[in-house]
Amino acid sequence: MRKTAKTIVTASAIAVLLGSFTLAPTVASADAAAGKKVAESRKKGNCFACHAYQGAKLPGNIGPPLVAMKARFPKRAMLEKQLNDPQSNNPNTLMPPYGKHEIISKKEIQDVIDWLYTL
Ligand code: HEC
Repeated sequence: MRKTAKTIVTASAIAVLLGSFTLAPTVASADAAAGKKVAESRKKGNCFACHAYQGAKLPGNIGPPLVAMKARFPKRAMLEKQLNDPQSNNPNTLMPPYGKHEIISKKEIQDVIDWLYTL
């Protein structure tokens, strides 16, 4: 009886552990994967026209390479501002105002930021 209870407890502890390892990253990367699609769509982000990043196909070099994003932009608000209205950081920038001109939706901007944090 005791042994059975212990087996059940151990089994459920393993299930909880496995669940926390497999579920959490899948949820986070679902948004990042959606963001990658938005970023790489010619009709939406088209980010690699100007930015190089790991895995980018034939990227342009009009903008700086997108690397170490978490270290360089620890606050989401910094990236949100750059994506919403890059002219607020630099009036002469060539980067399109994705949010202000509704080139992509608010949700898509959040997904793109999740993707940026994987770079
Ligand atoms: C037409 C070219 C162009 C496109 C397209 C473009 N950017 Fe930019 N981006 C720039 C330039 C140029 C800069 C340099 C900053 C400036 O001009 O003020 C920049 C800066 C940035 C920065 C700040 C990087 C740093 O190191 O300071 C981020 C983050 C960024 N872009 C993300 C994106 C993302 C994500 C996309 C796609 C959704 C995108 N950009 C599309 C031209 C572009």
